[in-house]
Amino acid sequence: MTVRHLLNIVDLSADELALVGDLSDRPIVDLGQPLSGGGVALIFEKPSNRTRQSMEMAVVQLGGHPVYTRGEEVGLDVRESVEDVIEILEGYHSMVAARVFSHSVVERMAALSTVPIVNMLSDRSHPLQALADLRTMRHEFGSLSGRNVAWVGDYNNVARSLAEACLMSGMSISFACPDGFQPSAQECERLSSLGSGHVISTDDPVEAVSGTDAVHTDTWVSMGQEDEVEERRRIFASFSVTDQLMAAASPGAIFMHCLPAYRGYEVAASVIDGPASRVIRQGHDRMHAARGVLAFLGGVR
Ligand code: CP
Ligand code: NVA
Repeated sequence: MTVRHLLNIVDLSADELALVGDLSDRPIVDLGQPLSGGGVALIFEKPSNRTRQSMEMAVVQLGGHPVYTRGEEVGLDVRESVEDVIEILEGYHSMVAARVFSHSVVERMAALSTVPIVNMLSDRSHPLQALADLRTMRHEFGSLSGRNVAWVGDYNNVARSLAEACLMSGMSISFACPDGFQPSAQECERLSSLGSGHVISTDDPVEAVSGTDAVHTDTWVSMGQEDEVEERRRIFASFSVTDQLMAAASPGAIFMHCLPAYRGYEVAASVIDGPASRVIRQGHDRMHAARGVLAFLGGVR
């Protein structure tokens, strides 16, 4: 049997994406402890609050044992090659999950691993976040199909995974990103091909949020881009999610952010701490989404 990995949302079919959502909603007792007696290695080349905590708890809830290691301790391609690390870890663990700088590292892991590899954030994708975001919106809206979301800010790892997940769930997405930080025309075409929803890209935040049910954003400065902070704050200055921008979305639209958030930059404090915000629910959904996908990779159907 071919081993399954989760590096990007598109590694799942649309039906499997829906199934993972269903598994994340099922009572834990109905999932049958698929990781019982097994370990899950969690390797972090970057800091984390939500991802580490939610993955550790999800592994425990499924009967497994999480083993957390900082990237510098493992020394991927420094102390030893990515390939040697995986060939050893697959002898101890049922799954290996990694948060890495370069997406190519999780691809190299998946190329030879005999156990599932889970991407816990790379420069390309953040699939675990998108699974949680879908869950938050599903619980908010009832059904996802036909709903519209906006992404305001940087077309980054979180945006790409969210867009894939939304399109595969029958939703439409509008991006408002500054020039140079937008999805390319080719990328918009790829996203469009994932579902029947629309993909719109503009540099006008008001146009992008108009008619949308959920407004998403993320930090303007992702981990690893700290040297660009001043330049990025200047380029993204007119892409803040403010009360005025939220007023341009559909009545009752919700605000979402994967966190950590920088109040006064990508989002006004009055928005993220206000009644439209679902960011805490979204953070809590990380654990349920992680449990759903780990159960799926562990063979639960
Ligand atoms: N959203 C998210 O991935 O948070 P952490 O970086 O804290 O894991
Ligand atoms: N885009 C951000 C997400 C943090 C959870 C980053 O990559 O740092």
